[in-house]
Amino acid sequence: MRPEIEHLPGSRIREVANAAMGRDDVLAFWFGESDEVTPEPIRAAAVQSLQAGETFYSHNLGLPELRAALAAYATGLHGPIGVDRIAVTSSGVNALMLAMQLLAGAGDEVVAVTPVWPNLTAQPAILGAQVRRVPLRPVNGQWRLDVDELCAAVTPRTRVLLVNAPNNPTGWTLSRAEQQALLAHTRRTGTWILADEVYERLYFSGGCAPSFLDVAEPDDRLVVAHSFSKSFLMTGWRLGWLVLPQGGGVLDAVGKLIEFNTSCAPVFVQRGALAGLACVDSIVPGLVQHLQACRDRLVAGLQALPGVQVAAAPGGMYAFFRVPGQDDSLAFAKELVARHGLGLAPGVAFGPEGEGWLRWCFATRDLARLDLGLQRLGGALTL
Ligand SMILES: Cc1ncc(COP(=O)(O)O)c(C=O)c1O
Repeated sequence: MRPEIEHLPGSRIREVANAAMGRDDVLAFWFGESDEVTPEPIRAAAVQSLQAGETFYSHNLGLPELRAALAAYATGLHGPIGVDRIAVTSSGVNALMLAMQLLAGAGDEVVAVTPVWPNLTAQPAILGAQVRRVPLRPVNGQWRLDVDELCAAVTPRTRVLLVNAPNNPTGWTLSRAEQQALLAHTRRTGTWILADEVYERLYFSGGCAPSFLDVAEPDDRLVVAHSFSKSFLMTGWRLGWLVLPQGGGVLDAVGKLIEFNTSCAPVFVQRGALAGLACVDSIVPGLVQHLQACRDRLVAGLQALPGVQVAAAPGGMYAFFRVPGQDDSLAFAKELVARHGLGLAPGVAFGPEGEGWLRWCFATRDLARLDLGLQRLGGALTL
């Protein structure tokens, strides 16, 4: 085995979840997904595709009609984006891995804004790149980026700047001014920005979260990764896409990488996504409104518990909170499962910057589940 793989840490979220396997009395909020099934028109289109016998290999870069629909969708959100900049991938995590394979190899430096979903920093490590972490810091529960500190860390030696905003787990979202500053800096250093914007639609200040696509030129060194998982309630379908720079042979290069990774995304899954894009306006706004109600209910409940530090995140589907005195988040998360039947993700799963914090995914159909979870947490804190 390569040492990079041998030394790769396992998921601490899984470690907590595995401890509860087979227990149906645990209220689980540890994974980043809603308990709502995929909207019916999406499922119906996939079923129809299967019934029609669409069971074969297909285009590396995705069905031309899905790529066209994604280009139109992205254009509606961020201004003109041609179909020659779109590649369909087998999930968001696959989109990110393809982008990392495209940009960074053994010995290259990748700078990541952290804490962050662990897959993002594991991918460059798998490829043998060196990951340098630049931490967000909490100010009254809201996480903030020191742009000067980040710019100082990104030098001409840095191949990739990895930014996930809205951020999993903190909900931190980049401002337009911060994006402009980072883009200007990376243009000077020749660094690529790999922006994970899978939560762009799950944004609670109206519309879409600020995107690097809004400020970049088509030929900037910018790759944006997206997913159908979160905004279309399609986690189990495994479909995502990349927005690539125009020209420079990048699209063809990604097509080659897709061929050697997965060859193509399943056609019936793409048909489902196409149906989802066709009725996006009947899916996303309602979902966001519901998630906001979930967020507000959970955050108010957490704030009412003694000592808990938390603020309502501007985007995403998580409350990231701290219980003073509980500095070992993995041990605390395991105790919450074992003794109180409450399943949360330990903050340390997202890096050392998250230690002492816990992540609660608030995406649930049934707000009463949040209340019950809050009762269980309250019980644990007052013991
Ligand atoms: C920040 C972030 N990026 C990407 C993904 C990938 O989503 P998927 O692989 O389900 O498309 C996730 C999923 O949790 C995520 O939290």
